Amino acid sequence: MTTIYIGMSADLLHPGHLNIINEARKIGGEIIVGLLTDKAIASYKRLPYMDFEQRKIVIENIKGVSKVIPQETLDYVPNLLKIKPDYVLHGDDWKTGVQASVRQRIVDTLAQWGGKVIDIPYTKGISSTQLNAVLKEIGTTPEIRCKRLRRLIDSMPIVKVLEAHNGLSGLIVENCFVKQDNKKREFDAIWISSLTQSAAKAKPDIGYLDTVSRLEGLNDILDVTTKPIIYDADNGGPCEHFAFTVKSLERLGVSAVIIEDKIGLKKNSLFGTEVEQQQDSIEDFCEKIKTGKKSQVTDNFMIIARIESLILEKNDAIERAKAYISAGADAIMIHSRSKSFDEIKEFLKEYNKFENRKPIVVVPSSYCQVSEEELIENQVNIVIYANHLLRAAYPSMVKTAKSILENHRSYEASNEFCMSINDIITLIPGG
Ligand code: SPV
Ligand code: MG
Repeated sequence: MTTIYIGMSADLLHPGHLNIINEARKIGGEIIVGLLTDKAIASYKRLPYMDFEQRKIVIENIKGVSKVIPQETLDYVPNLLKIKPDYVLHGDDWKTGVQASVRQRIVDTLAQWGGKVIDIPYTKGISSTQLNAVLKEIGTTPEIRCKRLRRLIDSMPIVKVLEAHNGLSGLIVENCFVKQDNKKREFDAIWISSLTQSAAKAKPDIGYLDTVSRLEGLNDILDVTTKPIIYDADNGGPCEHFAFTVKSLERLGVSAVIIEDKIGLKKNSLFGTEVEQQQDSIEDFCEKIKTGKKSQVTDNFMIIARIESLILEKNDAIERAKAYISAGADAIMIHSRSKSFDEIKEFLKEYNKFENRKPIVVVPSSYCQVSEEELIENQVNIVIYANHLLRAAYPSMVKTAKSILENHRSYEASNEFCMSINDIITLIPGG
């Protein structure tokens, strides 16, 4: 019997996909769809809206499809070698551009057993890229957004998170991307930092902004973004307060809350032992984790326990990690203010041996020379760039203010440091 192989992501299904399957039906035979896994898709573009199982159900029920199998990599060849199909069908748009080399590899592989590539004329007028833009405009729901962080952890070599402290900086995290090696690189999630949310209101990072006002600020960011959110809740407050915070965050569609194991007046960790900071007891902090876990409604929401032992120059980080995981923490954040990554690397050597190891989060503010590649090598799952947009904005505003003072007019500042008036009035759609 003739075997036909079609590789697809099938997230936003449109007539172009159905056309290819129809063309396969005309040839006749067994039609096998190699459905790209979340991991395979995340290796070159954003995570699909539907997860693998949801996409599989859709494709399995299309007339003519005999079987759906996972395609674990962007590269077709491993599946082709297993199946040895007579034909591979694809839209003819892959004959040019970045996909041309992928196509050629398939042509060469099929030649080994006399198989052929058939290029189906590309269906004009509709594409996944267009549908994606429309979906972004529609926005997301709290439930979809909340679930997305766990999916990202499962599919990305490392989840990249950038801080936002208001709607505008949220838009930057949402939309900014670069193209590198034919892949789109963008931030995967948004960090709601106690430090930058406080600083944006000219308040110190001492827990003066209460949860209710911080959630108001968060709402501005939720309004204009679709990416998952990780919320910095300082030490979570008393257990009674933390229960409320978890419920509010989950209802809003936040994916995770991070709480740190400190008590007393909150001080920013990056002061280290230069200021009075006290660590919570393991027992009490475990109680807080348990309270949080009991308060959440779905299994999607994550409670991440942040260990401050390295900050406070204590040597019980591993002991605490074990206890917090046993208490139900969904992930661990290990913090350090060392200028080198070595301190955390030491910790990870032990941590990565845990049988019930949970995802690990790091915040390389002081050891910022560490690369994502090195973090991946050390099995870090989430990297948070915790304060950079605010730190970038402030010096640029000071420069502008000084330039106007020095020049007795704004001409120099407008040309050197500012975006154009046209750019600012059209920056936000709907103006
Ligand atoms: C924050 O961004 O508020 C953090 C990280 O909690 S740190 O400032 O390093 O404590
Ligand atoms: Mg903080």
